[in-house]
Amino acid sequence: MTTLALATETVALEAARRRTFAIISHPDAGKTTLTEKFLLYAGAVAEAGAVKARAGGRRARSDWMEMEQQRGISITSTVLQFSYRDHVVNLLDTPGHRDFSEDTYRVLAAVDAAVMVLDVAKGIEAQTLKLFEVCRARRMPIITFLNKYDRPGREPLELLDEIEAQIGLRPTPLTWPVGLPGDFRGVVERRSGEFIRYSRTARGATAAEEEPIGYERAAREEGNAWLRASEELALLDAVGVSFDEQSFLEGETSPLFVGSALTNFGVRHLLDAVVDLAPPPAPRRDASGVLRPLEAPFAGFVFKIQANMDPAHRDHVAFVRACSGRFERGMTLTQGTTGKPFSTKHAAGIFGSERGTIDEAYPGDVIGLVNASDLRIGDTLFEKVPVVFPSIPSFAPELFAAARMPDANRYKQFRRGLAQLEREGVVQVLRDPEGDPTPILAAVGPMQFEVFSYRLRNEFGAPVELSPALYSAARLTDKATAAQLRETRGVKIMERRDGSLLALFESEYTIRRLEANHPDWCLGQILLEPAPGER
Ligand code: G4P
Repeated sequence: MTTLALATETVALEAARRRTFAIISHPDAGKTTLTEKFLLYAGAVAEAGAVKARAGGRRARSDWMEMEQQRGISITSTVLQFSYRDHVVNLLDTPGHRDFSEDTYRVLAAVDAAVMVLDVAKGIEAQTLKLFEVCRARRMPIITFLNKYDRPGREPLELLDEIEAQIGLRPTPLTWPVGLPGDFRGVVERRSGEFIRYSRTARGATAAEEEPIGYERAAREEGNAWLRASEELALLDAVGVSFDEQSFLEGETSPLFVGSALTNFGVRHLLDAVVDLAPPPAPRRDASGVLRPLEAPFAGFVFKIQANMDPAHRDHVAFVRACSGRFERGMTLTQGTTGKPFSTKHAAGIFGSERGTIDEAYPGDVIGLVNASDLRIGDTLFEKVPVVFPSIPSFAPELFAAARMPDANRYKQFRRGLAQLEREGVVQVLRDPEGDPTPILAAVGPMQFEVFSYRLRNEFGAPVELSPALYSAARLTDKATAAQLRETRGVKIMERRDGSLLALFESEYTIRRLEANHPDWCLGQILLEPAPGER
């Protein structure tokens, strides 16, 4: 075999081994616990507890940010890579809680699948719904995990109906619980028909023991719990909710697993499903819709930029999702938008927020490029054969604030900081095309504003006063409609960096009223649309 053929084969094999996914969930549904249990089952940590400990260690080291420390939350999104059953699993963290931001959405542009974690007592909650909408727009395959089955919750059959009714995703259970929520004994694997009984280990620190049990013994030992599970399974078979690969890959059905991240019950089944069912990286479409083969020379795109993660170095890390070819540290790439060369001497793999140097990467992997201050979100980097991937959509903002400078002497610093933070996508900056110099910042989560003020003051020496603007919804519009809207009370027209016009409204109600009264006006929903070529 020639060297080239060998290299091509290596890329194909390595890509096939990769699984790159994110966990979407509402705060407290169990994402952190589950992440930790994945690492436990993969052997990446010897005992559960290490992830939280690591987070503690990190806080001691980095003031990115003091805010993080004060609030005990994590702002930086992290990438975990571990191997499991001869696969390389990349788990991208979606920042959650109060730090929900556009970054949370952008991470979803860089994964091939998502695990949706639901609390069995709560079902679909607000934040899951928002994240799910982004997954749906991208037709992303979703695996569902009904978590916290070790404690009282709702009937799983009822939850199946609710998931389908609320989000239009049809769950197809691959495991089914024996025992009610709060009295969790084990699961039946629907495809093999096998009953696996679990037993707890102390504090869930090590893998749960699993014992396959024959039906007769199950009936004898589990009594009513077994009877009930058998009836429910018969019902599921009768209504035909079985796993279907095609509709899963198209984001229409979702294989569902029941478990408890705390006691580890069901975690192995879920991790197996990530490897067995979630798709490996596929050739990605470029901005004109042409597929970039996996075996083409290296190409990737920036989905996140994080500045000053390490305060000692004042650095910028650009997170690049590899899409084709083999990445080798030190290679010189070309930046798609500018055609400029880009050196990758400082490539880092990220585990939590601890960095180690990475020497090579394949499609599906995430590379952290340090000192990448010229890169922007959505930028493509490629080797040899040019390609430009579609830009990452900016998302419909829901929060708005006017940004004023209390100290006019700091004008230069203010401008510089504003431009930099806009470029990093910390917030969206809207300007008044009619000349009001006060920019309006737009965001999807309040933390974005806090990060903005903090960084403007601390990194650029420009204090800023943010006053909440009374708007709560935005629509894309055109010049003709903007002229009409300027005459309408409670509407403000602003311009985005790309020149598009955004109409800000005080309420969705106003939008609905205007849409009804003026069907010819241009009031476009903002994004959450698949990028061109992803349709
Ligand atoms: P998040 O990242 O999605 O926000 O959730 P996280 O894993 O931090 O879990 C939130 C709370 O729910 C934690 O309890 C955690 O222990 C608990 N939890 C997670 N999975 C399960 C489960 O399967 N069963 C039960 N019963 N509880 C679960 P906490 O008291 O807030 O924190 P901690 O003191 O236990 O860390």
